This record gives sequence, C-alpha cells and structure tokens, in this order.
Amino acid sequence: MRLIIFGPPGAGKGTQAVKISQEYKVLHISTGDILRASVKEGTELGKLAKTYMDKGELVPDNVIIGIIKERITTQDSQKGFLLDGFPRTIEQAEALEKMLNKEGQRIDSVISIEVDDEEIVKRITGRRVCEKCGSMYHIIFDPPTNMGYCNKCGGGLYQRDDDSEDVIRTRLQVYRRQTEPLKKFYKKVGILKRVDGLGTIDDVFERIEKILKGVA
Ligand code: AP5
Ligand code: MG
Ligand code: ZN
Repeated sequence: MRLIIFGPPGAGKGTQAVKISQEYKVLHISTGDILRASVKEGTELGKLAKTYMDKGELVPDNVIIGIIKERITTQDSQKGFLLDGFPRTIEQAEALEKMLNKEGQRIDSVISIEVDDEEIVKRITGRRVCEKCGSMYHIIFDPPTNMGYCNKCGGGLYQRDDDSEDVIRTRLQVYRRQTEPLKKFYKKVGILKRVDGLGTIDDVFERIEKILKGVA
C-alpha cells in the first residue's frame, strides 16, 4: 500500500498517519518530522530548513525531493509507505511520480482530509508534542493524562515554533497557493479520496478505513 495523506496544516495528517501505519504496518514518512529532527540535531539541513519553517514557508523543492528519494528507496519502504506532508508542490508531485515509475510502482490513494480554517486554528493552537518520542496531543481534544507530560514515555510536551497564530496564517496561505492545486493533479489521475476531517479522531479514522478497505 502506497498512500499520501494530504491536507492543510493542522488537519490531522500526522494524527491519522500514526494510526494508519500501526494498523496497516506501513512506513510513516513525514517530511515535517524529518526536518524537525534535523533542526534539533543542528545539521546543515536543519539550519537551512529552520529559516523557512519559522516563517511558515516551504523548504526548497530540491532539498525535500532529495530527502524523499533517500527514504523511499530503503528496504523497509518496499512493503509500502505513507507520505505525510509530501508532496506539497506540483514539482514535488512530478518528481515523486518519476521516482516511483522507475521502480514500477505507483501511489494507490491520496487521502485528502478536509477541515475549515476556523477548526484548523483551534487544532493548531492547542497542539502539544512530546519532546522525546514525538507523540501528539491536544490540550482540549486529545489531552494527556498528566498535563504537560507524554502518556507513552513521560517526556515533556512542547509547542512547535511554527504554531503561533501569525505563522499559522502564512502556512495557510502557502497551502492554498502552492499545495491545494495538487488536488486537481491527483483528481485527474483518479486517486483523490476526500475525507471529512471534522468529528473526533476516531470518527475520521473510521472514514479513512472505509476508503482503504475499498468500501467508501
Ligand atoms: P509539517 O510538519 O508537515 O506541518 P503541516 O503540514 O503544517 O501540518 P501539521 O503537522 O501542522 O498538521 P497535521 O495535519 O499533521 O495535524 P496533526 O495531526 O498534528 O510541515 C512543517 C513545515 O516543514 C512546513 O511549514 C514547511 O516549512 C516544512 N515542510 C514540510 N514538508 C515539506 C515539503 N514537502 N515541502 C516543503 N517544505 C516542507 O493535528 C493537529 C492537532 O489537532 C493536534 O493537536 C491533534 O491532537 C489535533 N487533532 C487531530 N485530529 C483531530 C480531530 N479529529 N479532532 C480534534 N482534534 C484533532
Ligand atoms: Mg503533521
Ligand atoms: Zn513521548
């Protein structure tokens, strides 16, 4: 199974991707997580990426395409993968197609999580992430048992640098301008599956499961 999980910032891509990869045993590849790990390690890639991420802009295509090329040619991606946060531009989508064509592979479905802007702001401003294991929480919609600490590993929870209200606004604009046009691209290919992203995390997961089982 080769999937793309698509949608605006804060739609719930990461949250659903974790559930899908657990249930279907596919590798979860999140470009945002990869970039944040590089920022934390202080690598050259991290330093470069941070200048874009802090403003809510996209990291240049050639950098991101290089990262993906490396990941999807590894052994553990052979059974399938789930791309979260990639592709985000037409150029990235075309590069992905080329990479997969070479291996005789293709994307099966693009799951597009549809959420309005008001809900996005609520979701992003309440998001908290574990500094140790990366698990995601929401202070109202998906709170940890002990406020401020991760249920899974006890790590401290923090707010992402790009989750301030003004950066969110830029991220949304960037999404509308550069990323949303990809829906047309995948609709043409016939693999775009729209999912209502409102409701609880489990409601949304149930809708996605129906699609993956081919019953929706
Ligand atoms: P990235 O990390 O991909 O961020 P994003 O696309 O802005 O999306 P988010 O991770 O913010 O949201 P999400 O959809 O994963 O939502 P989540 O599940 O966390 O990218 C960050 C930056 O990196 C970019 O701005 C760019 O600079 C760079 N970058 C990354 N990829 C790139 C690429 N391909 N090209 C160029 N640059 C790239 O959920 C959000 C919150 O809502 C959580 O708190 C969660 O608990 C809660 N929640 C989830 N579902 C529900 C629900 N159903 N009900 C209530 N609450 C919910
Ligand atoms: Mg995410
Ligand atoms: Zn944790």
